[in-house]
Amino acid sequence: MTTSPSAEDAAGRIARLREEIEEHNHRYYVLDEPVLSDAEYDAMLRELQGLEREHPELVRPDSPTQRVGAAPADGFGEVTHGQPMLSLDNAFDADELREFDRRVRERLGVASVAYVGEPKLDGLSLSLRYEDGLLVQAGTRGDGRVGEDITGNVRTVRSVPLRLRGERIPARLEVRGEVVIRRQDFEQLNAGRLEQGERPFANPRNAAAGSLRQLDPQIAARRPLTLFAFGVGECSEPLGEMHWQVLEQLGAWGFRVNREIRRLDGLDACLAYYNDLLGRRDSLDYEIDGVVFKVDDLAQRQTLGFTARAPRWAIASKLPAREATTRVRRILPSVGRTGAITPVAELEPVEVGGVTVSRATLHNLDELRRKDVREGDTVMVRRAGDVIPEIVSVNTEFRPVGVESWQMPERCPVCDSEVIRPEGEVDYRCIGSLQCPAQLKESIRHFASRRALDIEGLGDKVAEQLVDTGLVQELADVFRLDRQRLLGLEGFAEVSAGNLVAAIEARRQVPLERLLYGIGIPGVGADTARLLADQVGDMDYIRRAPAVLFSLIPGVGRSMGEEIHTFFTDEANARGVDRLLREIELVSENGFSPDYVASLTAGEIVAALGISGVGLGPKRARELGSKVTYLTDLMGLASQRLQAGGVDVQGLRQQLEERAPLFEEVDALLIEKCLHWATDRGGAQIRGGGGSSSTLAGRSFVLTGTLESMTRDEAKARIEAAGGKVTGSVSGKTDYVVAGEAAGSKRRRAEELGVAILDEAALLDLLREAAG
Ligand code: IVH
Repeated sequence: MTTSPSAEDAAGRIARLREEIEEHNHRYYVLDEPVLSDAEYDAMLRELQGLEREHPELVRPDSPTQRVGAAPADGFGEVTHGQPMLSLDNAFDADELREFDRRVRERLGVASVAYVGEPKLDGLSLSLRYEDGLLVQAGTRGDGRVGEDITGNVRTVRSVPLRLRGERIPARLEVRGEVVIRRQDFEQLNAGRLEQGERPFANPRNAAAGSLRQLDPQIAARRPLTLFAFGVGECSEPLGEMHWQVLEQLGAWGFRVNREIRRLDGLDACLAYYNDLLGRRDSLDYEIDGVVFKVDDLAQRQTLGFTARAPRWAIASKLPAREATTRVRRILPSVGRTGAITPVAELEPVEVGGVTVSRATLHNLDELRRKDVREGDTVMVRRAGDVIPEIVSVNTEFRPVGVESWQMPERCPVCDSEVIRPEGEVDYRCIGSLQCPAQLKESIRHFASRRALDIEGLGDKVAEQLVDTGLVQELADVFRLDRQRLLGLEGFAEVSAGNLVAAIEARRQVPLERLLYGIGIPGVGADTARLLADQVGDMDYIRRAPAVLFSLIPGVGRSMGEEIHTFFTDEANARGVDRLLREIELVSENGFSPDYVASLTAGEIVAALGISGVGLGPKRARELGSKVTYLTDLMGLASQRLQAGGVDVQGLRQQLEERAPLFEEVDALLIEKCLHWATDRGGAQIRGGGGSSSTLAGRSFVLTGTLESMTRDEAKARIEAAGGKVTGSVSGKTDYVVAGEAAGSKRRRAEELGVAILDEAALLDLLREAAG
């Protein structure tokens, strides 16, 4: 007999998981005090996802699984703010701040005013609407009265509570705040983009604003956005007498409130606060462009009121700009590792925020055209944090006469290969590949870099020399260098040449993930390389596998799967990799990874193929896949077995036929791979989506308690003989828990996780079925 938890048990477990996950989110994203490891967190989230999949009727919009639920939109709707989102007046120096304080005191008729000082964050301002504590809408500022509805994106921001915590929840509430990307997150984000061959963001503000303007919430979900709440718009109940109390209340509801916010008594305290923040500007982990002073007493605010655009009770004291004016000497095309050509402006050196800047990237031709930067132009450059300086704008008043707009060269300035713009891409590319010295230099530098082969002594300058002298014409040549040749290069002596040769020799044995990262597959960063190495574990297999098999690895996805496949099927790349493999020895290849094999059921592969337009969603695809052991078997299925509510059988058949060659390829690879696995582990049966002859193939069992008719060892042997596997602990991946007499904690764990529990008779039935 099979028992699974009733909806009631599941509801309880789901509620508990949600609470724990949200508590963790709050600790991690709001309080900066994580207590769980990522693995523990992931396990809870996966368990919740599993339970919600089994009980779709229990899914709620405020479940942590629903943060990325929304589908990509065609455009944004409108949001009408309950109370207008106003702007702030600025004070550009201490005198203007003094003047503000004087006006406030005069209007209120008091000698001194209590203010609250807040960092003015440089991000995107948002209004979040809560109804009975549930987040129902999120909008941008827009014109202050009507903004854009970006609810789907904002729901992905972990510091935004989907449901307010705690008590005193008003029926209607608008929370105002600023979304930013923190400096550290920004650096990581840009490093990742560079690694993937993508264009880095110019500054955190652009990155934050751009992320929230994405039509696909999946993209926003991957950006490290943080919301800092700083006020309240419309609210159905009064929240206190002071702004300070409102901020405290926001904190209690689960919002992140800036820790630098202070109560300040009178003007002098404000000036001191300003100077303090100015001095610490660079050590704050977010960008600020000013300090906001707000009258604390809400009744006093009422008295002061508003002008047309801004409240009379607040002012933004601007911090000194990180911008400066200079002139563009020349615009030069610069060729990157993947061949992308970036226009770079060579500037007359200028000091910006304490650093001399002489180059600024223009990112790509679109950006250059948008800003219309020309040689000789007078431009405003900005430096934010340690980010690459960017050109903010051009002052066309000072444009020299007769300067045409800059043109992308038709041929690569370095190797004279053709320059193309691949369809759908923003970047122009030199097609010279490693024949192009610029790309070769960058590739060698990347190949030798820390997370790749980590060859000490092979940096920018040496890579340049190696290419310029023709010593290295492809990556494999790095391993053909010897002391003699290096001694011919400028700057090399006996010792340094010997050291470099030794450093290279030491890397002839290299872990697979480092090699995969080092060869520079477009889009494959160090993390993806590790996933490939961990999950697939075998270079030969990776080189031959169809894209769909990569896309089944969580975290890789379809388009990256295609990139990997395309890279290895390119003839020149394949030859280069062949030659490289002759020079090195891969260590720490996992061989065929059993987890990956076990995860590749026909059902998932069918789902990942994206058969479209015939009513076959991922769930049905998995059902369909579970009817066969091999993909090619799908073609032989009778029509009534293909039939599942609403599926267009004719259309489906046609699409299956079209994929026949791919199916054969996948089947062959899987059989080969699984045979290896089976031989390695002495297993008998290999894989299956549940075909008639191997019901237990790929199924995992946990045995607990005492069985009557056999010992646990015997049960284990029989399950394995039928293709199943037996493991020691119950997890979300366990298919069955066999519970004998006096089964204890494992049985309880199975109940919690919703894993099917078999008694001895049910196990015997299964074994008989598998044998017959
Ligand atoms: S109060 C009516 N507080 O600055 C009060 N604004 O120039 C309006 N901002 O659109 C805003 N940090 O996006 C306030 N601590 C802070 C802020 C802040 C950043 C932004 C906000 C607003 C703009 C006003």
